[in-house]
Amino acid sequence: MSKKITLLAGDGIGPEIIAEAVKVLAALREHGGLDWVLESGLIGGAAYEATGTPLPAETLALAQDADAILLGAVGGPQWETLDIKVRPEKGLLGIRSELGLFANLRPAILYPQLVGASTLKPEVVSGLDLMIVRELTGGIYFGQPRGVRRLEHGERQGFNTLVYKESEIRRIARVAFTIAMKRDRRVCSVDKANVLEATELWREVVTEVAAEFPDVELSHMYVDNAAMQLVRAPKQFDVVVTTNMFGDILSDCAAMLTGSIGMLPSASLDQSGKGMYEPIHGSAPDIAGQGIANPLATILSVAMMLRYSLEAPIQATRLEKAVGTVLDQGLRTSDIYSSGTTQVSTGAMGDAVVEAL
Ligand code: NAI
Ligand code: MG
Repeated sequence: MSKKITLLAGDGIGPEIIAEAVKVLAALREHGGLDWVLESGLIGGAAYEATGTPLPAETLALAQDADAILLGAVGGPQWETLDIKVRPEKGLLGIRSELGLFANLRPAILYPQLVGASTLKPEVVSGLDLMIVRELTGGIYFGQPRGVRRLEHGERQGFNTLVYKESEIRRIARVAFTIAMKRDRRVCSVDKANVLEATELWREVVTEVAAEFPDVELSHMYVDNAAMQLVRAPKQFDVVVTTNMFGDILSDCAAMLTGSIGMLPSASLDQSGKGMYEPIHGSAPDIAGQGIANPLATILSVAMMLRYSLEAPIQATRLEKAVGTVLDQGLRTSDIYSSGTTQVSTGAMGDAVVEAL
């Protein structure tokens, strides 16, 4: 039976980069012995304009019915003044929580051809290949109670609640350890167990899960030190597992070690392996419509989709190698261009990957 992939192009450069991913999917289907049905849905600002909501019921139904979802990006300045409930970003958050996509995988890989793109010294970042596993549907971003209240003497107080259930910690830890088994077999769990009780439990439960994976080495680090170590000596990490908020911050930091927002993919998975795949960058309204956006983060998101949701790890590796090939050929979109390389358009980059495949 063929798999179902839902495409959600979204806003800004979203449609441009998804178009390149579709070319790649067509090539894989034609030559890779794989089969799937592609369906497109509206999300974000595009959905708001057409239907008045950033996550229409039909889109949610399509996403629920799919084996995997490929998303471009949402948002743009024209929707910034909207009520937060109908802002484009709400569509993205809605799909993540509705589908229970609790495991956010954010690799930070520095391609050898792009070492110069990092702001850090080549010896610190060359060969960098780490995976941040961020808990995505719990913690302080979802904890109740939350809000802004008025105290007795009239002063306002903002409050959020950091909560983690044992089961939530256990399932994200298992994802991290399972991934580590296929990598360098090292997991670093990041918390603030010296100050926050919820993460004291985090540390305890992750340690319990480690016993199920005797071949994987577990270490613990406080988040402030982890931030420092990521910049000081990022290659000491293999897999990092952490809470929703710490993961949000650390994964952006890790991404920037590679210096190229247009290169980095991500996956958000549920319990069964179904997932949503998307580049980590946003809708880049400043360059939308110009045909210059880098489609490689989206194409590498397709590779993650092949690996984690479509049971096609060999094709995933083939696609990643094809991206390496086009970089070897010196092809660069403007965000990763440096002198001595050849600047190409979004479409030409997608074509080159298809050719390399
Ligand atoms: P952004 O990631 O869209 O852009 C930051 C900078 O990186 C811009 O200069 C942009 O031109 C460049 N850039 C991003 N992706 C690129 C690519 N593939 N190729 C070449 N250059 C690229 O972040 P920004 O500007 O903060 O946000 C723009 C909009 O995107 C906002 O509405 C924001 O809310 C939304 N956003 C959406 C996300 C998502 O859909 N997952 C994530 C982050 C932001
Ligand atoms: Mg972020």
